Amino acid sequence: MTMEKEITFSFNGKQYKGIAGHTIAAALFANGIRAIRKCEVTGEMRGVYCGIGHCYECRATINDVRNIRTCLTCLEDNMIIISESNLTIGEMQDES
Ligand code: FES
Repeated sequence: MTMEKEITFSFNGKQYKGIAGHTIAAALFANGIRAIRKCEVTGEMRGVYCGIGHCYECRATINDVRNIRTCLTCLEDNMIIISESNLTIGEMQDES
């Protein structure tokens, strides 16, 4: 039996709770967040598509490192996750 450890992270400046070891994408999904970034070309909202690291649609900036695939990266305590887009923080939260 494994014990789950609840941790805290931020997405676009807002605090959320997640489970250590879950993927970032899963933690965002569990908190009701579907839109992770905005497409640079079309401006459409993007989120998890393949869930296995192939499509790169789930990219975000994690602790100041750009283009991290959230579906492959495990959540850690106090991670700072920021959308890669030209939207303001308020716009991203409204479109989640
Ligand atoms: S959802 Fe396709 S790479 Fe993450």
